[in-house]
Amino acid sequence: MSTTSIRWGTLGAGGIARTFARELPHTRTGRLQAVAARDADRAAALAREFDAPSSYGSYEELLADDRVDAVYIATVHTNHHEWAARAADAGKHVLCEKPLAISEAWAREAVEAARRNGVFLAEAFAYRFFPQTEKLLELVRSGAIGRVRAVEAQYAFSANHDPGNRLFDAAVAGGGILDVGCYPASITRLVVGAALGRPFADPLTVAGAGHIGETGVDEYAVAQLTFDDGITATISAGIRVDGERRVRILGTRGQIDVPSPFSVRQGESSEILVSAIGRPTERIEVQQILQYGLEADAVGDRGDALEAPQMTWADSLGNARLLDAWRAELGLVYPVERLP
Ligand SMILES: NC(=O)c1ccc[n+]([C@@H]2O[C@H](COP(=O)([O-])OP(=O)(O)OC[C@H]3O[C@@H](n4cnc5c(N)ncnc54)[C@H](OP(=O)(O)O)[C@@H]3O)[C@@H](O)[C@H]2O)c1
Repeated sequence: MSTTSIRWGTLGAGGIARTFARELPHTRTGRLQAVAARDADRAAALAREFDAPSSYGSYEELLADDRVDAVYIATVHTNHHEWAARAADAGKHVLCEKPLAISEAWAREAVEAARRNGVFLAEAFAYRFFPQTEKLLELVRSGAIGRVRAVEAQYAFSANHDPGNRLFDAAVAGGGILDVGCYPASITRLVVGAALGRPFADPLTVAGAGHIGETGVDEYAVAQLTFDDGITATISAGIRVDGERRVRILGTRGQIDVPSPFSVRQGESSEILVSAIGRPTERIEVQQILQYGLEADAVGDRGDALEAPQMTWADSLGNARLLDAWRAELGLVYPVERLP
């Protein structure tokens, strides 16, 4: 594996940008070089907090900085694809927060820009880089629970209703499906893929339902999926419903339960529970090294690759297609998608 050191720049100085900046010093390959925000003081404050040499009051200025090798896009959903494409056009490698775009069509623009410019691009689904995820896939492939028949995955929480929060703001494509539903969609496609001997699987059918609240975003939603080989799945998401963040895989000879598949803090451990029929539940503990640092190191470790094997472009596009289909079932169209 050839490894290079990466000087990172963040676009946006919000919550996840800060979390990412906090983990960078613990990575093998990365350090924070610059922060950009729409407000120069905001960018400077975050840069100061994490000893980044430069800060900018516009994203464009950061993209023009030759000392930045890769960009972490930590903005609201509606402009991920645009800034991913602009960063790629500026010759930067790109790690872009989930979802890569609010639709498959827009995600494709980001992918095409990376391809055209020969730069690395990955959607920042940190969980894809967790050792726990690797272990889970190993278990599924090994037939630990027999033939996989169904998957149940959920990511839901009840946030205070606040129209000013991006989660409730239709103008920036808030709502449960895009913000957190992308996780159950992603892990279900990954697990079913492992069961079928593929890197991921796309559903044959998607039937969804949900509730769109007064601010025009989905507050909770579910979808039933079918896949090859008769595998079915139920995925659900919500920002206004007290729920869980877990995945359960049902097989002909047992089930696997992952109580915390999407988020495991740096230095903590997580558990995979394997309950094979007729045997006591086996608890497999997996040590987490870093949370967001692993995806950052994937950029440093990319060698000549433009894609991360854990999170390929085709996989991101497939997830976006599923989210498109799920939203369509609810009739959920964001203002930014409507023709003038
Ligand atoms: N991977 C994870 O675990 C994880 C966790 C949380 C969030 N996320 C993702 O990270 C992204 C940011 O989430 P966050 O929680 O960090 O949100 P946040 O704190 O509200 O930050 C959003 C950022 O978006 C920027 N922005 C750019 N254009 C904007 C516009 N038109 N309106 C409002 N803000 C705009 C702002 O940047 P300026 O600083 O330039 O003003 C702001 O810093 C989202 O895509 C979310 O899905 C991922």
